[in-house]
Amino acid sequence: MVAIHALGPELTGISSPDPLKFAFAGKKAAHIRSHSAAVPAEQTQEVYRQLMGSPADGRDKRLVYIHIPFCRTHCSYCGFFQNATKTDEIARYVDYLEKEIRMAAHDPWVQQNLFHAVYFGGGTPTDLTPEQIIRLGTAIRESLPVANDVEMTFEGRFHGFDNDKVAACLESGFNRFSLGAQSFNTTIRRRMSRIDPGEFLLERIGYLSSLNNATVVVDLMFGLPGQTLDDWQQDLHTFLQSKAHGVDLYQLILLANSRMKDSIEKGSMPEPASSPERAEMFRMGVETLSTHKVGRLSVSHWGRDTRERNIYNHAVKSGAEILPFGSGAGGNIDGYSIMNHRALPAYYQMIDRGMKPIMGMTQSGGNRALLATVGSGFDRGWLDLSALDRSEGVGMSEHCMALFNAWQDNGLATIHHGMLDLTLPGQFWNVTMQQALINFLEQHPFAADNAEKAA
Ligand SMILES: C[S@@+](CC[C@H](N)C(=O)[O-])C[C@H]1O[C@@H](n2cnc3c(N)ncnc32)[C@H](O)[C@@H]1O
Ligand code: SF4
Repeated sequence: MVAIHALGPELTGISSPDPLKFAFAGKKAAHIRSHSAAVPAEQTQEVYRQLMGSPADGRDKRLVYIHIPFCRTHCSYCGFFQNATKTDEIARYVDYLEKEIRMAAHDPWVQQNLFHAVYFGGGTPTDLTPEQIIRLGTAIRESLPVANDVEMTFEGRFHGFDNDKVAACLESGFNRFSLGAQSFNTTIRRRMSRIDPGEFLLERIGYLSSLNNATVVVDLMFGLPGQTLDDWQQDLHTFLQSKAHGVDLYQLILLANSRMKDSIEKGSMPEPASSPERAEMFRMGVETLSTHKVGRLSVSHWGRDTRERNIYNHAVKSGAEILPFGSGAGGNIDGYSIMNHRALPAYYQMIDRGMKPIMGMTQSGGNRALLATVGSGFDRGWLDLSALDRSEGVGMSEHCMALFNAWQDNGLATIHHGMLDLTLPGQFWNVTMQQALINFLEQHPFAADNAEKAA
């Protein structure tokens, strides 16, 4: 076993009377990085054709991601913006996207098994017209085998999502709306270029849930410039008073090169919350929702009743296979990460040539079962140590025990009944800790006894 004193504070965190605020220096990224190797550009089409010709693994949930890379405004904090919404360009894009979806209908890998979640994300799918929504929804249903209990999410903004578009979504089989509220506070919203007042959002949530035909989930962000603890408490209570079925609580990641960062540096926007202040906001979120008995589906996602299942988001964290469609869409098949072209001309050109519009592909260097166990566990807030052993080989959890003990000493986790259970501070730092575990395993590789390694 690795000795505890061999581990640095970037892995273990530091000992602090207040680990929620001070265990690590700050959250730097929203996602985990693990070792992977680029597939040479001239081989990506061939590798993709091989993947599509091979048998599909029937054990796990399979996902579809469809990307709509258009937004009406560029929200000042966001790194997902690709293209400004233009009616003609969207019409052209929908033609190509439909073609890309229908091309997949002939692939054995696609047809051999069911898809359990379809996520229509962006960008802003709510900028599509009702006719475009129905066309793409029909293409999905006619081309891809979806499970009877498929979770079909339509993501977007409240702005411009009128009753005709909502009806088109329901007619097309979408059964979940995931809408970015960010905040119900109109002043805070306008500071981020969010157009509508908070009251409008509540009215629309009321309408969507009154249809009683789809799950309604909203995103809220904490740590925004000028957002006080009281503002945050008010947002949480507004969610509770609304009829939304679920909520995501995201802490702001202040992106380098974002307009928000620029404005803050120039002094034209107030400072966002510091990491300790965001930690306090996280605590408030967990305590408020727990007190009101909202069910916790992951460290950052909550469902008020059984209507919200959170299938797509949790399956992504658990390493599920994702078939990507659209410019800028990312996928994951049999250990290969696939990224479609972000530039529209390159995307169109490849579809015209009958090719998958791949911009880049990498092959994961890590053990997929291990990454899936770790990803799924940290997303829910606990790691099953026997699952860790099954994914990498007997002795794996013992191999990591120095790190787990250090986390326990630093108030980030407790170890009991074969579980590494994240404390509230551990839940706040879960992405940092997950990355630390992956870095630890790269620095201290585990040599499993292959005879005992699980299949
Ligand atoms: C891919 S975005 C699309 C949402 C949709 N277009 C909208 O505007 O509401 C999904 C969510 O990511 C979150 N998000 C975007 N940028 C973020 C950032 N810099 N830090 C934290 N969360 C962010 C927001 O809550 C947003 O609703
Ligand atoms: S938050 Fe949504 S609408 Fe705003 S820029 Fe990002 S993806 Fe576009």
